[in-house]
Amino acid sequence: MAADGEAPDNAAMDNENGNHAPPGPGQAAPVITIDGPSGSGKGTISRLVAERMGWHYLDSGALYRAVGVAAGWGDIDLADPAALVRCTFDTVVEFRDDGGELRVLVNGTDATGELRTETAGAAASAIAAIPEVREALKERQRAFRQAPGLVADGRDMGTVIFPDARAKVFLTASAEERAGRRYKQLSDKGVSVNLSGLLREILARDARDANRAVAPLRPAADAVTVDTTGLGIDEVVGRVLAVVTQAGLVPEQQ
Ligand code: DC
Repeated sequence: MAADGEAPDNAAMDNENGNHAPPGPGQAAPVITIDGPSGSGKGTISRLVAERMGWHYLDSGALYRAVGVAAGWGDIDLADPAALVRCTFDTVVEFRDDGGELRVLVNGTDATGELRTETAGAAASAIAAIPEVREALKERQRAFRQAPGLVADGRDMGTVIFPDARAKVFLTASAEERAGRRYKQLSDKGVSVNLSGLLREILARDARDANRAVAPLRPAADAVTVDTTGLGIDEVVGRVLAVVTQAGLVPEQQ
């Protein structure tokens, strides 16, 4: 926030009450990006932060997962990039708020549950390494930037999709903790899983996401890293909101 007598560092920022002013006509809506590896808690935290801000929410991973699911439905070979690029253009993804629960429709079919499977995640990770797929999804992601603001979660939200975001957070947690969280999630749903298998998958996915040539997983230079290892959800939300407040943005609900 600009000190007295200084020019504000962002014209859209402060009104006379010290609150964040809504973007004026022609000004892009403000964005908060929350990036990080799978299992870092991005989804849960981003949704809660969006709620507290009263802003829109983008789960960018769901777009990649949706293409993965559609590719599975179409028996498309994950080793055939040209077919996957065609599939990306052909796949219609809709997000619906169903009484506070986010549902995702892929080509008109509710695929919310299928999107969360390890198979969809692995397919998404393979598909996400194809530059033309990332390019094809760029504008679709940017279209979510609408007033009063957007909280966007993913891998490259702060680095590639919204480099001008007002606040950027990079959430991390140890691979063991992330595998443990996923284990609990799946066990709670009655799915029988093997913890060491989950850990192996997480490490393999991290390596693929971090080492790919396009938009590899890494914090933006101006991102604040929050390590969530050993922290509860409320504590993480508090730390993210502290970053957001520091950036001059004011949560709607305290
Ligand atoms: O966040 P997630 O687990 O739902 O993401 C699924 C996969 O999609 C992940 O392995 C990497 C990819 N992804 C990506 O490359 N860029 C994003 N912005 C979001 C997800």
